[in-house]
Parts: sequence; structure tokens; C-alpha cells
Amino acid sequence: MDIKDHIRGIADFPKPGILFYDISTLLAHADAWQVAMGRLAHAVRKYQPDILAGIESRGFLVAAPLALKLGCGFVMLRKRGKLPGKTIRHEYSLEYGSDIIEIQEDAIQPGQRVVVLDDLLATGGTMAAGVELLRQVGAEVTGAATLIELNFLSGRRKLEALDVPVTSLAAYDE
Ligand code: PRP
Ligand code: MG
Repeated sequence: MDIKDHIRGIADFPKPGILFYDISTLLAHADAWQVAMGRLAHAVRKYQPDILAGIESRGFLVAAPLALKLGCGFVMLRKRGKLPGKTIRHEYSLEYGSDIIEIQEDAIQPGQRVVVLDDLLATGGTMAAGVELLRQVGAEVTGAATLIELNFLSGRRKLEALDVPVTSLAAYDE
């Protein structure tokens, strides 16, 4: 099965000139979603995680079911102001301006092996921020994985610079 057959490209979203890769159709197709999760589980198992981290919001869709499948825990990396209690934040740059993601400071035990998950790797800014945040709380980040990778935005290089191996199921060149 080709995962790409279940991912829709929607032109000019969220702004003119951008081709948006929509995973709604993959999520809605029981068999295709099952296959995608199976492939991701196979890849992520190699990183031997104790716990999976998902990046709000679409990363949760991938990380939570995968954690159940692998018998791992699941931790949320959330956008600013959403997590209760003591949190640690990491600010990162976007094309215009910056954003912040946060984690609860006791979410990870020091030295735990963590794999970070998201739906899509584009410029890699979001995923790299996730890695840095996890390291700040003492995690050993052993890998990163996504459903989709946009090769032309070179996000993989950002993660390689952080010494984090990346797996993606469907890579696009445009
Ligand atoms: C999208 C996508 C990834 C990120 C990838 O999230 O889900 O998290 O952008 O881009 P990057 O590699 O250039 O950082 P978005 O912030 O749009 O929000 P959402 O997941 O809440 O929909
Ligand atoms: Mg996202």
C-alpha cells in the first residue's frame, strides 16, 4: 500500500502558493491508518523508546496510538499556556516571528529514552524545538518520526545537526 494514496494535497492552503498535505483522509480510512501505524511502529521500535512525545496538535494523533501499540508512555509537548503545574518552555523561530512549546517539568525521568513524533516535518523548526525541550528536562532523545516529510524544506538537516535520526513514511519533493 502507498500511504500517499491516502494523503490529499490541497492547493493554496493556508495561503496562496502553499500545497497543504492533508492527513484527514488517511485518518478516516481504517485499513490505511492501521498500515501507517504499523509501519511507524516498526520504524520507531528501533529507537528503543521508553516514552513517546507528541507535539500539539497533529503530533498527538500519531504519538498517542503509537505509544499504545509499542507499550510506551506518552507525553505532551504543548503550545504555550496549556499545561498546568510547573512547566519548562522552549522558544523557537518561525518564518515570521516565534513560538513557544512547553512540557511539564516532571514529565520525563532523567535518562529516559524518548522518541518525538509529529505528523509532518517541514522546515524542522517544530521538531527541533521538541528535541531541545526534551533535552532540557533530561531526556535522551533517540529518534524522531513523522508521517510526512517535505524534502525541499530540509527539516531533516536540522535534526541531523542535533544528532537525532529521523524516519518518515511519505516524503515529497514538491
Ligand atoms: C504543522 C505540522 C508540524 C509543523 C511542521 O503544525 O503539524 O507540527 O507545522 O512545520 P515545521 O517543520 O516547519 O516546523 P502547526 O503548527 O501548523 O499546527 P497543528 O499541528 O496544531 O495543526
Ligand atoms: Mg503541528
